[in-house]
Amino acid sequence: MEKRWRCTVCGYIHTGENPPEICPICGADSSFFELVSQEEEANKSTEVKPTAQPVIPQPDREASLRQALYRISYGLYIITAQAEGRDNGQCANTCFQITAEPPRLAIGINKINFTHELIQKSGKFGVSVLSQTGQNHARRFGYRTGRDFDKFEGLAVHRGESGVLLLNDVLVTMEATVVGQLDSGTHTLFLADVTAGEILQEGDPMTYAYFRSSK
Ligand SMILES: Cc1cc2nc3c(=O)[nH]c(=O)nc-3n(C[C@H](O)[C@H](O)[C@H](O)COP(=O)(O)O)c2cc1C
Repeated sequence: MEKRWRCTVCGYIHTGENPPEICPICGADSSFFELVSQEEEANKSTEVKPTAQPVIPQPDREASLRQALYRISYGLYIITAQAEGRDNGQCANTCFQITAEPPRLAIGINKINFTHELIQKSGKFGVSVLSQTGQNHARRFGYRTGRDFDKFEGLAVHRGESGVLLLNDVLVTMEATVVGQLDSGTHTLFLADVTAGEILQEGDPMTYAYFRSSK
């Protein structure tokens, strides 16, 4: 292996049996060169350089974990269900496509919600995809349970082919049949096949971030 010499004045590295007479960078003579040791060479080749240096001051572990989760982006949806003659709906951000073939999605619903009870009883639910003007729908369906009041009163809705109510003033609607569910502690993850879909409006969907910034 060829020797490597370091200029102690400017750090220039020269490769060869002997140091150069004059450093081509700073002009120091050969007496200013030192041999780079084999140990130093070995360390250099195994040195692991950090790839993702945090440039923003990190909060404590728990807070940074929560802040990281907070930056996952979502849409906003009204999930509707019907069972035993009762209709209800709730706002949800946790609705996402799992596969295109078959058309399959998942929703995350809190076990204490009235909507949860209706989905478990019927095995079906509707999804109304909010547009960026859907703040009022999110408020009406997202902050109060429908156990003791009718969230649809005065609202333009229609009934889908599976029997669930769907909102008129939204981008698209879907109807879905539950094919599996996962107990996730406080929530249930419902996996469902999409059985119907209709396009009602053109426009951009509401995102959770847009809702937070515009409410
Ligand atoms: C922006 C927003 C997003 C929400 N996302 C969810 C969600 O993904 N899952 C859930 O179970 N609840 C979610 N909620 C809360 C429910 O909409 C809320 O608890 C609702 O009152 C339940 O109604 P229900 O008891 O009539 O079913 C969300 C609320 C808001 C405002």
